[in-house]
Amino acid sequence: MIYLAPLQSYTSVFYRKAFADVVGGVNKYFTPFFECGKTRFTDPDILPELDVALNSNGLLIPQVATNDSDFLVQFYHFVNEMGYREINLNMGCPFPMLVKRKRGGGLLGEPLLLQEMLDNVFRQLPDMRLSLKIRIGVEEANDWRSIVDVINNYPIKEVIVHPRIVAQKYSGVPDWDVFEEIIAACQHSLVGNGDINSVEDYKSLTSRFPSIKAWMLGRGILRNPTLVSELRNVNVTDKMRIEKIRLLHAAFFNEVMAYYNDWNRVFNFLMTFWYYISMSFDGGVRHYRKLKKHNRETLYFEWIEGLLDMPWIG
Ligand SMILES: Cc1cc2nc3c(=O)[nH]c(=O)nc-3n(C[C@H](O)[C@H](O)[C@H](O)COP(=O)(O)O)c2cc1C
Repeated sequence: MIYLAPLQSYTSVFYRKAFADVVGGVNKYFTPFFECGKTRFTDPDILPELDVALNSNGLLIPQVATNDSDFLVQFYHFVNEMGYREINLNMGCPFPMLVKRKRGGGLLGEPLLLQEMLDNVFRQLPDMRLSLKIRIGVEEANDWRSIVDVINNYPIKEVIVHPRIVAQKYSGVPDWDVFEEIIAACQHSLVGNGDINSVEDYKSLTSRFPSIKAWMLGRGILRNPTLVSELRNVNVTDKMRIEKIRLLHAAFFNEVMAYYNDWNRVFNFLMTFWYYISMSFDGGVRHYRKLKKHNRETLYFEWIEGLLDMPWIG
């Protein structure tokens, strides 16, 4: 199974909807995280994220970053009433403000706090469907040991592991040897995540870890939306890739335009759409830097043609 990783600002509801309509092949989608204390669920900027009409094409798991059991329960009830059956707890985000508050990646260094939270939550809601998304440590690649000891005691649905430490942010490489140790120690279903950017990356991990049935991909799919089909052995040419990008963009553009009546807001979303894709074109990164200056509809479409004319480097 293939999951689309949540990337704050990039895998917005509009992107997920367009992706599900035009590309598909993803078994689970995740919202970028909602943060305890910040989320006013009636905020129109937040509402489309969970809008059932926009999320009906695939299984959506709302994600939350918190260390507060009351908020977790409240969030679960809120999304449950909308029809979402499972939530995901973010235990990996390296944003310093989040880590400092012992949320996201910060929670990895707080096994007792996690235990207290899970105790409270499962006492109130023994059937809660909760999955976790973890890294392997905050500063050192061993915090996962005490975290796994805690979570083994609770009915967690699955654990997505991005085997980097928080301090690495996105630098260096994932440590798949630690992932192997986690497979041995953790009693829950595991999902692997991190730097799967090509069919070769995927094949080498699936053959090394045959017991892992689900893989989560983020930037690899954002750079090359047809990667999902390529992983399933569909033969895709550069021409087909570019055609799919055109269709995906058209769908994304329409979704954002339908929701926001304000070109400047729309344009911010459009910039996120091209950020990763432009890396797949020879000269695309330099071309991307000029996008800001094309903040008018006609100029914008000229900019797109300039990008799509460049050679695909994947
Ligand atoms: C810009 C950016 C935003 C992200 N936002 C989130 C988020 O909201 N929640 C989350 O769990 N992970 C988030 N991540 C991490 C990704 O979900 C994923 O774990 C990471 O990018 C590694 O996978 P990849 O190499 O396939 O992209 C983010 C990553 C990036 C680069």
